[in-house]
Amino acid sequence: MTRIEVVRGDITEEDVDAVVTAANESLLGGGGVDGAIHRAAGPRLAEAGAALAPCLPGEAVATSAFDLGPRIRHVIHTVGPVWEGGDHGEAELLASCYRRGLAVADEIGARSVAFPAIATGVYGFPPDRAARIAVATIRETATEVEQVRLVAFDAATRDLLAAALRD
Ligand code: APR
Repeated sequence: MTRIEVVRGDITEEDVDAVVTAANESLLGGGGVDGAIHRAAGPRLAEAGAALAPCLPGEAVATSAFDLGPRIRHVIHTVGPVWEGGDHGEAELLASCYRRGLAVADEIGARSVAFPAIATGVYGFPPDRAARIAVATIRETATEVEQVRLVAFDAATRDLLAAALRD
């Protein structure tokens, strides 16, 4: 059974086998959590990502975590949906980010994984709906991952994730 925890903090400081980054299709890095992870992992992360790009929305790929190691061994890159009002399949694409993120974690043998609040920043996905999708998708996905940590950068996101976990 996968244990799900909600924490507030900087995902680059997590002590897990794999961290998930909210990437864009180029996998070259960007702002937000992607920028933080690329800064911490170093320039080799973008090189490794470029070799696997493009990563389509809802998809996920894994690379080494480079300078985030040896604590964190893998970065799982996933691309969230850009919010366009909610009737362009955004909810299913976001669910796919969590589902495929867990599947890739299984492929690389990661037993503990930290997820950010994918798509709720630059991509504009409403954080309350995203929180419910994240928790529901992780709960319904069969995986070998034993520990999932949902890492919120701000208190409001943490509270929404904690509320979703209580449902
Ligand atoms: N640790 C954890 N969460 C973080 C961190 C961090 N260090 N920095 C930002 N976040 C949070 C944001 O506050 C937000 O809640 O990650 C969540 C996702 O926001 P974004 O990083 O903007 O990701 P997203 O909305 O999916 O947009 C992706 O932004 O950075 C670019 O390259 C990225 O083009 C892609 C787009």
